[in-house]
Amino acid sequence: MQVESRTKGVWARVLAVCGLVSCLVLATVAVHAQSMAGRWAASGPTLDNGEAQKAILEVTQTGEQLKVNVRTPGYASEAKGTAKGNHFEIFGSDAAKPWFVGDLVGTELHIVQDNGDHWVAKAATPADEFPPLPYIDPPALHKVPYNGLAKTPPMGWNSWNLFESKIDDKTVRTMADAMVSNGMRDAGYIYVNIDDTWEGTRDAQGVLHTNHKFPDMKALADYVHSRGLKLGIYSGPGPRTCGGYPASYGHEEQDAKMIAEWGIDYLKYDWCSAGSIYKNEQLQPIYQRMGDALRATGRPIVYSLCEYGMGSVEKWGADVDGNLWRTTGDISDEWTSMIGNVETQIPTAPYAGPGHWNDPDMLEVGNGHMTDDEYRTHMSLWALVAAPLLAGNDIRTMSPVTKSILLNKELIAIDQDALGKQASPVKNGTLETWVKPLADGSVAVGVVNMGSAAAEATVNAKDLGLNAPVKSARDLWSHKAVHFSNGTYKASVPTHGVLLLKVSAQ
Ligand code: GLA
Repeated sequence: MQVESRTKGVWARVLAVCGLVSCLVLATVAVHAQSMAGRWAASGPTLDNGEAQKAILEVTQTGEQLKVNVRTPGYASEAKGTAKGNHFEIFGSDAAKPWFVGDLVGTELHIVQDNGDHWVAKAATPADEFPPLPYIDPPALHKVPYNGLAKTPPMGWNSWNLFESKIDDKTVRTMADAMVSNGMRDAGYIYVNIDDTWEGTRDAQGVLHTNHKFPDMKALADYVHSRGLKLGIYSGPGPRTCGGYPASYGHEEQDAKMIAEWGIDYLKYDWCSAGSIYKNEQLQPIYQRMGDALRATGRPIVYSLCEYGMGSVEKWGADVDGNLWRTTGDISDEWTSMIGNVETQIPTAPYAGPGHWNDPDMLEVGNGHMTDDEYRTHMSLWALVAAPLLAGNDIRTMSPVTKSILLNKELIAIDQDALGKQASPVKNGTLETWVKPLADGSVAVGVVNMGSAAAEATVNAKDLGLNAPVKSARDLWSHKAVHFSNGTYKASVPTHGVLLLKVSAQ
């Protein structure tokens, strides 16, 4: 499920609504050829914490048409499908491809999810019901002073884009080692962030343990710190994470204290199943609760809100101690996803600044499904919009080109510029020009070729907001000086490529 959640935009969107587990469940329902109607208790793959994924499917059938209500410990959603004989197909948002297919076999539904996961559903008994969770009032809103962190956009590496659930202590250590040996640390990539699937189960005292992949989180934090790096971790305000693991609902203060004791320096806090308890209008107080809990620990912990841009987060994220917040759904390693994410967050530009950043999601540079030009554009745009630079590739085995993209220090300086301005585009046919004012009075300008053929980019000094004529200009990919002639610079830009300049005034 996790693979699907990030490789398919549709699934990612569904996730935000119903979550992985629930969606699986949906699929389950459709079984009975004659009549699949009824309540089914479905059991799916076992998570890394030893828990089998569970779902209740309520199926109604009219002729061949199925309607399925799916509930899991964190989600509820609806799906539709068809049944022919004993075979069924259930569709989510993608009308062209079944989410789940399966068969009624005896008294069971045997279901295969589109990512290959297998589920089995049996007639539900009262014992299969999920115990209801009590509603806990969120705190009253109150503004908190700036926590002093993330004065420039956070830089580091995150496990999700490449590994999803296949991340463990040993791999994190090798990533930390790589960040030291390949120069990333010295270029500013400081955070080593563990995403979802580190979680075990909660004990009778409410303590959330790690699962077998992370035997000693404190020791791991100590190791990462010994390499001159910082460690990040992941949770969420709902009962379950997007991967179906226990999240922090009802245990916010306890979890914050625990991660502070471990020596964690960064928390990504993902909405996921919080919608099963709260309304989306409650995003701000819910995020305030963990912000307050982190502050109460006394440890400096960068607070990363992950709520896919819902609720105009850019307008209040900083008020609840957020240092960055997602502005979009999940990125995937493809041009349309990458461009879609950065364009979606255009309206948020006025709200970025030192200590509080808009986050169009982590980098896909080096993951193999975009061209080198597209990755250069990805990196350039993230720098121009002052986005967090969280590499999402295998930084232990980078090609020279990938390394030259992630370690382009002139570009990193644009991202990390102290003024903290987020560029916005001006569109001209298939060319988009993004201008970012910099602290020293110069500007960074990127011209992206959205078209399918090479195009000539023209940069006019008068459009750059400089207060004097151009003194000097550098191409930040060729690392060479370029010359404006009569206030203009022209260059050919390949399809999906970028021209990136730093232009200084006299
Ligand atoms: C959501 C987030 C992703 C990742 C996964 C983990 O989809 O948006 O970035 O953290 O959850 O389950």
